[in-house]
Amino acid sequence: MERLEQLIEEARAAFAAVDQPAALENEKARFLGKSGSITGLLKGLGKLAPQEKRVQGARINAAKEAIERLLAERRAQIAEAELNARLAQESIDVTLPGRKRGAGGIHPVIRTWMRVEKIFGSIGFDVADGPEIETDWFNFTALNNPPNHPARSMQDTFYVDINGTDGLPLNLRTHTSPMQVRYARVHRPPIKVIAPGRTYRVDSDATHSPMFHQVEGLWIDEDVSFADLKGVYTDFLRRFFESDDLQVRFRPSFFPFTEPSAEIDMMFTSGPNKGKWLEISGAGQVHPTVVRNFGLDPEQYIGFAFGSGLERLTMLRYGVDDLRLFFEGDLRFLSQFN
Ligand code: PHE
Repeated sequence: MERLEQLIEEARAAFAAVDQPAALENEKARFLGKSGSITGLLKGLGKLAPQEKRVQGARINAAKEAIERLLAERRAQIAEAELNARLAQESIDVTLPGRKRGAGGIHPVIRTWMRVEKIFGSIGFDVADGPEIETDWFNFTALNNPPNHPARSMQDTFYVDINGTDGLPLNLRTHTSPMQVRYARVHRPPIKVIAPGRTYRVDSDATHSPMFHQVEGLWIDEDVSFADLKGVYTDFLRRFFESDDLQVRFRPSFFPFTEPSAEIDMMFTSGPNKGKWLEISGAGQVHPTVVRNFGLDPEQYIGFAFGSGLERLTMLRYGVDDLRLFFEGDLRFLSQFN
């Protein structure tokens, strides 16, 4: 009797002395295992008389249950202590700023691209897209700029080591003007289209990048005049800059594919850029040879084309003075536009 109570107290002390689950299970074996003290006492019952056996058996079993209860309690305590320790270690500081998923933004030049499409779309211009790797014929010859023509040196080109269908090396298009020919050859007049896209030249400084963006415009019908070019383009600029405070002038120029040709300059009459003429686009009446290359009769069809730099428009709209900022990928710069 005393022996049993002693064993229970021993077990209580032994269980309390350990704080790891594995150590606790070892202690359990000392009392309840195959050669544990309680097990030994139960084995000894066989030698007793039946009456004695029942009484002792009940006592030993009660002690066994008491030790099992102590064990279960201690297991729960150890598990809870472990959980608390882990929670303390993994504590979350709810005052820390959240980690946001970075949301992408629209590049300022692409914003301009979208804006140009919207404005010209609203006055009935289709939007076309074409290859950036171009044949010599589409990039130059079809635009009245045959091999060895001195005007070719106006645009220094990246050539590709593969010949095109015309037998000449392919090039990265130097302008979007080949899209005039590509589009006009598969559409019937009236032809009214813009073709925005990437263009390439061997050129690099604060206002030139070897890769840049242009938007080509082309309107061909039986009676499209230079006056229409002036009207459409001036209206475009007013809508693009959301301002009527700007003047537009057409300065005589030369392109092999237009005659007459002009540089379009604009000047803000208010705001920070006020009073400076800025070159914004090449333009002109499409040359008869080019109209013929469209597959059309230049005696019947006439119209205008323009090619404007999207970076230029973007720089003027947002007051950016170095074009390289658009291509450096610096988020401090780019995130200002979103
Ligand atoms: N393609 C010319 C350039 O890149 C611009 C232009 C387009 C001029 C259409 C006239 C007509 O410089």
